[in-house]
Amino acid sequence: MHDINWRLLALSALLAVTAIFQMGYTNAYPNTAIGSFRLFLNQSSENPMTMSKSEFEWAWSALLAVYFIGFATGSIISASIADRIGRKWTLFLGTCGSLLSALIALFSIILKMSMMFGFSRLVMSLSAAISMNGLILLFQESSPNHMKGLISFNAEMAFVLTNLIGGLLGMQSILGQNLVGLIAVSIIPSSIACFLSVFLKESPKYLFLKKNDATEAGRALKFYQNIQDEEEKANVLNDLKMEREEMQNQRNGSIFDIISNQPVRRGFLLGFATMQLTASVWPVVFYSTDFLMDAGFSYEISEGASTFMLFFSTLCTIIGMFLVEKFSRRWLLIGTATINIFAILGFALSAILSIYWQPLAYGCIACLILHGASYSVAMGPIGWFITSELVPINFRAVSQSLVLGLNHTVALILSFLTFPLYKTAGPITLVIFFVIPGAVCILMLILYLPETKDRHINDIVEELKDAKAKRKRSRAEANEEESHGMNKLGEE
Ligand SMILES: *[C@@H]1O[C@H](CO)[C@@H](O)[C@H](O)[C@H]1NC(C)=O
Repeated sequence: MHDINWRLLALSALLAVTAIFQMGYTNAYPNTAIGSFRLFLNQSSENPMTMSKSEFEWAWSALLAVYFIGFATGSIISASIADRIGRKWTLFLGTCGSLLSALIALFSIILKMSMMFGFSRLVMSLSAAISMNGLILLFQESSPNHMKGLISFNAEMAFVLTNLIGGLLGMQSILGQNLVGLIAVSIIPSSIACFLSVFLKESPKYLFLKKNDATEAGRALKFYQNIQDEEEKANVLNDLKMEREEMQNQRNGSIFDIISNQPVRRGFLLGFATMQLTASVWPVVFYSTDFLMDAGFSYEISEGASTFMLFFSTLCTIIGMFLVEKFSRRWLLIGTATINIFAILGFALSAILSIYWQPLAYGCIACLILHGASYSVAMGPIGWFITSELVPINFRAVSQSLVLGLNHTVALILSFLTFPLYKTAGPITLVIFFVIPGAVCILMLILYLPETKDRHINDIVEELKDAKAKRKRSRAEANEEESHGMNKLGEE
């Protein structure tokens, strides 16, 4: 058992919370502060205070959905930025962008310009993806092996935590009626992140493998891992050297290779299906307060329930960290996804039936909390890394970014359409957009998803081969077993 480097852990936690702050915060405060934003859009429209309900619904959902365009673009360009200017400066760039987005948002509220608010969300999501990738690369490459899991958990924890802060501060009784204050608050953590990232060291791996600078890499190792001993330093650098040789030998798979190689294609589709299941979390994070008000609750109860859901999800993320290490990945994912889909179905049914019997509306609150909990406890976190566990290493980067890109495209369309359609067609929208596709995805997972926990990628790929290839293998295995049994008999 290695010692945990508390200094490194604290540094990465502080940077995670401050660098990812805008991403969680600005996606959650629109949920609880929707009343004030409704007024803001009404005041800033071409003919102030004449905005119709449906105009508001389309405009608001477009402003929120802009997030996916920025985030997908940011994810795609961040890899090449990180290779060109380094991980540290990528993080710096992302955090400065986040700071800038908060300033733009602030002025858009003061000047009553809704397009400018949309632009601030575009800058925010672009920078969020860049700083998130910079942060994860920097700390993954700089921390000792036994701490890598803890460090990625930090990023996820920071996201749910900042979501909670956003939902909480967006409440009417806190800062929800004061949009300027609500946005101004977010300038503080972003400035801290921007300031802190200047004083970090570049990742040792980047310095050594990309810049060929062993002296600086040694200094970075001292900074991040507190390695002073020259011999130990040389060992770590030697490991990096071997990794470089391995990297040079392997060919990176292209999109075409993913499509034409059966087990890789199946792994990729399973990763995509898992991410797709998580898409329903966005309308919930964006609109739950408003949906609860439609079900007949007061503003106070609706925003309270939404905030409680975010709080409970934060707790579940911590519990999930232990569960993911203990239980079968396959069944944890299928189990929580099934609960999650039933929670949306339950929400829609309660909302529809509450017209006939009002107390049924409490089912909406129960289902909302169940949805948040089942997402955070396992489904969400597993969704983020399952693709990388299902495809061989040389396809990993391409598959991951492809899954993310496709997922964000679908999420963009779904979350843009959900709000206006919910308002016209009613809660049945959730069933069509999330329950039915979700059920198909779960069926796919039940049929094809192999167990990935504690297994070698070669075993997993073997299991992903389709029936034809499998039959061949089982025949070979039977033969092997037979001969093995004979050997045993012979020994006796
Ligand atoms: C905008 O303001 C007008 C005047 O107060 C009001 O009638 C209308 O319903 C408001 N629109 C929205 C979407 O709130």
